[in-house]
Amino acid sequence: MSKLLFIQTLGCAMNVRDSEHIIAELKKQDYEITQNLENADLILINTCSVREKPVHKLFSEIGAFDKVRKKGSKIGVCGCTASHLGSEIFKKAPFVDFVLGARSVSKIGVAINSPKFISTDINYDESEYAFGEFRTSPYKAFVNIMIGCDKKCSYCIVPQTRGDEISIPVQIILNEAKKAAQNGAKEIFLLGQNVNNYGKRFSNSHEKIDFSDLLNRLSEISGIQRIRFTSPHPLHMDDKFLRTFAENPKICKSIHMPLQSGSTKVLRDMKRGYTKEWYLDRALRLRELCPNLNISTDIIVAYPTENDEDFNDTMEVVGKVRFEQIFSFKFSPRPLTPAANLPLIDDKIASKRLTHLQSFHNEILDEIMAEQNGKIHEVYFEELRENGQVAGRSFSNFLVSVNGSEELLGKTKKVLIEKTQRMVLYGRVTD
Ligand code: 5AD
Ligand code: SF4
Repeated sequence: MSKLLFIQTLGCAMNVRDSEHIIAELKKQDYEITQNLENADLILINTCSVREKPVHKLFSEIGAFDKVRKKGSKIGVCGCTASHLGSEIFKKAPFVDFVLGARSVSKIGVAINSPKFISTDINYDESEYAFGEFRTSPYKAFVNIMIGCDKKCSYCIVPQTRGDEISIPVQIILNEAKKAAQNGAKEIFLLGQNVNNYGKRFSNSHEKIDFSDLLNRLSEISGIQRIRFTSPHPLHMDDKFLRTFAENPKICKSIHMPLQSGSTKVLRDMKRGYTKEWYLDRALRLRELCPNLNISTDIIVAYPTENDEDFNDTMEVVGKVRFEQIFSFKFSPRPLTPAANLPLIDDKIASKRLTHLQSFHNEILDEIMAEQNGKIHEVYFEELRENGQVAGRSFSNFLVSVNGSEELLGKTKKVLIEKTQRMVLYGRVTD
């Protein structure tokens, strides 16, 4: 009889893919997924440690899991917070059965059968990269192209939770993408901390190609209609990358360009490796090359060295690039990072800057969305919503919803936009 797995995934798309790897491994041991915590034989939480809040939430959350779980069930903590806190998790939550860091998820099969198992190893072993197949969505396949991160951004904990940057061999990536396409996925979504630095280091001698060539190779796979990726680093956006991005018709015209700050001084303090001018040049060149491009970004406000003038630089970049989406955060000091002990900016000032940035961006976004009225977007439908609506993403990554049924799922259709909201475009299928 199969056993039941409850898994909660926090954090980024890498974590979503890691959870898929975990599920694939556990399926080999007869586990099935349940949404019902009380019935689960195994409860897993795949954690994120990029900011302080989710780390705090972890302990209250697993405490709540512990209260309602059935007798004899196991609880495991996986992912970035597992890497970062390690055995401290057992001390704070003695009922936890195992701890598996972000780079050790392939050991899940061993962990579930070994009391108090812990692995926070950040070494990389290619043989461990042969996971079974499990995908949450039949329409879109996440494919890891690299792991870890070599950048030493002063605020960021990721290099410590995910280790050095290593590219996954081309053949593994191509095979995974081909298999996903054969199983019906028309979109592949490439994942890595700095995807456009792909190919800089492999763990063995492998065919060496760069990210632009990888994109072109992947686009030759029949069945794949759309390619997306996250996240590229603005520093590595050379002209070859910009050209490939613009010219390859299978590459979706949406790009995540993490800005972090618009001030060259703060960018230097953050060790980002680019200036305000470089960022603006790359973003605006891309806008020129791709007329229907969506650009999203991440912004940290109130980094310890940010003054009003620096913040205004960030606002200026937002006004010039007119991002279609921003993810914005107050600086959160993370242990063992270079910025961990810098004196913090007063929280009231930090909150004011964040609100100011977000309301400015909302004005921009409302204008961008209103401009979509009457336009036609090519939408790949992926999700049934409430009230007879089906949703998908336009080629440029707008969320588009139409009246329809499951027949639309997995199909790409032209949609005429008839109504717009801040986050969603509504329309009707025209072909
Ligand atoms: N404080 C606030 N935001 C952070 N991010 C990463 N580290 C921190 C931190 N210490 C944000 C960055 C990154 C996104 C995933 O999270 O903007 O791009
Ligand atoms: Fe993803 Fe970074 Fe969070 Fe880890 S810490 S889950 S890499 S966002």
